[in-house]
Amino acid sequence: MGGVLTEILSLKNISKEYPGVKALDNVSISFEKGEVHALVGENGAGKSTFIKTISGAIRPTSGTIEYEGKTYSYLQPAQAIDMGIAVVYQELIQFEAMSVADNIYMGVKEESGLVLNDKERQRKAAGVLAEFDCHISPADLIRNLSIANRQIVELAKAMVKKAKVIIMDEPTAAITVSEQEKLFEVVHKLKASGVTVIYISHRLDELFRICDRVSILRDGQYVTTKDIQDTSKQELINFMVGRELSSTYPDKKPAAAEVVLSVKNLTGNGVRDINFELHKGEILGFAGLVGAGRTELMHLIFGAAPRESGQILFKGQEKKLSSPKDGMAAGVALIPEDRKFQGCFIDKPIYWNISISTIDHLTKNGMVDRKAEMELAEDYRKRLKIKTPFLTQLTSGLSGGNQQKVVISKALASLPDILIFDEPTRGIDIGARHEIYLLMNELAEQGKSILMVSSDMEELLGMSERIIVLHEGAQAGELSKDEFTQEKVLALASGL
Ligand SMILES: Nc1ncnc2c1ncn2[C@@H]1O[C@H](COP(=O)(O)OP(=O)(O)OP(=O)(O)O)[C@@H](O)[C@H]1O
Ligand SMILES: [Mg+2]
Repeated sequence: MGGVLTEILSLKNISKEYPGVKALDNVSISFEKGEVHALVGENGAGKSTFIKTISGAIRPTSGTIEYEGKTYSYLQPAQAIDMGIAVVYQELIQFEAMSVADNIYMGVKEESGLVLNDKERQRKAAGVLAEFDCHISPADLIRNLSIANRQIVELAKAMVKKAKVIIMDEPTAAITVSEQEKLFEVVHKLKASGVTVIYISHRLDELFRICDRVSILRDGQYVTTKDIQDTSKQELINFMVGRELSSTYPDKKPAAAEVVLSVKNLTGNGVRDINFELHKGEILGFAGLVGAGRTELMHLIFGAAPRESGQILFKGQEKKLSSPKDGMAAGVALIPEDRKFQGCFIDKPIYWNISISTIDHLTKNGMVDRKAEMELAEDYRKRLKIKTPFLTQLTSGLSGGNQQKVVISKALASLPDILIFDEPTRGIDIGARHEIYLLMNELAEQGKSILMVSSDMEELLGMSERIIVLHEGAQAGELSKDEFTQEKVLALASGL
């Protein structure tokens, strides 16, 4: 990094215990002023717990926090905010129906102690947003913004509060390549202005573009901190996982000729005139920029949104889907993009979520076979490495990535013919990611068919047999395995 740096924040010997788990076990990490410091580790390693200690969202069991020369045994959330610590969370907490300006200035008082009026807010917000060089208008409603732009609004909010430390928990998990670039620029600007950025990500490649240092956690323990120029992706993986990992995409048998799904001139829910066939045992990828209509198309095929015209045929038979129930009856399962809100019942135990979609099969004479139910859950826990002390634990107590593994297990357990994976590995660590790829291949080889929406270009090219590219709700093209490249996909996705 060079130059003399000053420490702004230092966590010393932090531990946090939950029943049956040490989420953090004697972890010490220091942060310098004006550095971008990444925090990496597998799902459940303790990353979110660590940053919640900094933001005051949780109180550590033991250890101390030093901030600008003062020592604290814990922070209160309001205190952390006053001290200049801001967090952009994994799940953004925003007021959807309010304007950008109102979100940015919520709770912000002028030095005079007065709250800004509407006009003032809009004018000032425009000034802050201009610094980010983005096309967001202060009057826009949050609900009309892309996830990337919502993150920029959060960063603008942090700037207005004069944050000195900004923590970003998986900021790029939900955004596409071109939006990533914009976010990286914003991070560079923050750094240049002396802000410390703590950056959590499962996408290791991007760390080499924006970070100065990286600290690794494994099973709640601190492993080491490296200058980014002195390490490699492979070394980071070894530190995180502690074992060798296969980084290649698994080989897959080609799909059969049999058509299991055909979509003809399908229009509705923001997409128009879509035509494609899905074969038995095929993994068909869908590419496109945010807003291209990929998720919307999947919702039509699952019955979660109404069709205006066109046809959906399963094994040659037309089905009119008017609800997800119809989709499931037709043999479709959807692993949604927004797992937290659509994917599972967060206040139910883990085993309950995994078994719920196949509970009929586990029920005899009106009684649920508890033993079979637990065995099923245990099987998925092992395969997807769901990190939990008990399957009877509430799903809400799992780390973000482990909750996603529960959602995936739930869909797989329903034994569908057609699986829709919307961003299958978003938020999933590198070890389990490969496991999910193997599982997808295995399912395909068993004769299931997969529709996969992904913004992760490497994954899209590595896993798909064909790729359909959408652009602004329409089909921009279709590429087969021997012709697709990142450049071709991006060109079609951008409407060139
Ligand atoms: N409220 C809670 N109750 C019980 N256990 C918890 C709670 N919060 C976290 N844990 C456990 O602490 C461990 C660390 O979780 P944490 O959320 O910090 O992981 P993470 O590194 O952020 O993972 P991910 O990459 O999946 O987001 C996990 O084993 C998790 O199950
Ligand atoms: Mg987390």
